[in-house]
Amino acid sequence: MKKIIINGGKPLQGEVSISGAKNSVVALIPAVILTDDTVTLDGVPNISDVDSLVDIMETMGASVTRTGETLEINPCGVENIPMPYGKINRLRASYYFYGSLLGRFGQAIVGLPGGCDLGPRPIDQHLKAFAAMGVTVSYEGDSMHLTTPHQSLHGAHIYMDTVSVGATINTMIAAVKADGRTVIENAAREPEIIDVATLLNNMGAQIRGAGTDVITIDGVEKLHGTRHQVIPDRIEAGTYIALAAAAGEGIRIKNVLYEHLESYLAKLEEMGVRMTVEEDAVYVEKQGSLRAVSVKTSPYPGFATDLQQPLTPLLLSAEGQGTIVDTIYEKRTNHVPELVKMGGAISVDERGIAYQGPNHLTGAAVKATDLRAGAALVIAGLMASGQTEISNVEFILRGYSNIIEKLSALGADIHLVTD
Ligand code: EPZ
Repeated sequence: MKKIIINGGKPLQGEVSISGAKNSVVALIPAVILTDDTVTLDGVPNISDVDSLVDIMETMGASVTRTGETLEINPCGVENIPMPYGKINRLRASYYFYGSLLGRFGQAIVGLPGGCDLGPRPIDQHLKAFAAMGVTVSYEGDSMHLTTPHQSLHGAHIYMDTVSVGATINTMIAAVKADGRTVIENAAREPEIIDVATLLNNMGAQIRGAGTDVITIDGVEKLHGTRHQVIPDRIEAGTYIALAAAAGEGIRIKNVLYEHLESYLAKLEEMGVRMTVEEDAVYVEKQGSLRAVSVKTSPYPGFATDLQQPLTPLLLSAEGQGTIVDTIYEKRTNHVPELVKMGGAISVDERGIAYQGPNHLTGAAVKATDLRAGAALVIAGLMASGQTEISNVEFILRGYSNIIEKLSALGADIHLVTD
């Protein structure tokens, strides 16, 4: 098991560059098996989710060459074997292989996805869309068998009961080579959906409306190779912006697309955070006292559920009281008891999270329970006086590229140790 040790209270200054978006690249990699040509992805983050997906791709017969942040994937050797169960449940986003195997072979044998414990994470909308496109779903032990009468899918008009990033992307991936037109209504609008549609269209797909709540896909016979630059990770950016406001004395966060963070930055401005938005960066000054605010998450372009946890330590440092309500994952509160161990006046009840500030956090032994909860504990540790020891940090390494190096370069006293 790995741990992160932080000696907090150090002044952090300098610049940090944001890496490629985890929640885009975990869909881009499986989508490559829709063609037999080589696809090159640039700006791929150095995170263990990518390692897991590359491992699965190679197990299935693809050849992958990784050079720094560039992945060159040749999928022509991919065979339709049952997904390697032990690997498939390492990360929830492995469900994108459902759509891409269906798109390539018209059938798939897969395991059920893994992922962070954020409460129930059903895939009913994914399966509803596949069924509408002619897929029969059956279960044998831990495996799920997806089959179609003639090894091909047909277009369908699908109305999503829930706004779902994963179901929207998975349906798009399955539909690009289906017979006829697929329309997805009540689609999610996240920037990662646009990024996946951009890759697929550059491979020859016919997708219109990505980024709106109605996406139209006209099936094509064949897709070809291309080269694609992954968009910056807006959640990593929001995490470092919160850190800069909480423990920084002048930090520039580079490779940021402002338009991906408007609702988040508006909330920080409501707190009184002093920052300057530059062309592709955000500069955050050393802060004075901040005002406590309340947060309510909603699907993009609303306040991202993935950013409520990383923002919480900054909220705790503000004057006043506020609430945090996550309408997407109501149980995304496992970071709260850990922040209480560090002296945070914060609690959870059936309505959500409530806090009272300002709090001067002190270092403690805490554990990461999921990816963004772990990020919140790193920020809290950097703010706190004394030493913080975070266990279960494999969660953090899943989604934050080179986090130890990036924080050390800002002046943090932080180390990764193996227990
Ligand atoms: C994606 O998960 C992200 N993960 C999550 O980020 C993010 O929190 C989430 O979208 C919401 O923005 C990836 O992109 C790999 P959803 P996803 O389907 O696609 C319900 C992180 O920290 N739902 O948009 O799994 C679901 O229970 C991770 O980077 C159904 O009911 O999320 C949730 O309440 C954590 N049925 C809501 O929809 C379904 O079939 C949104 O889920 C699918 C989802």
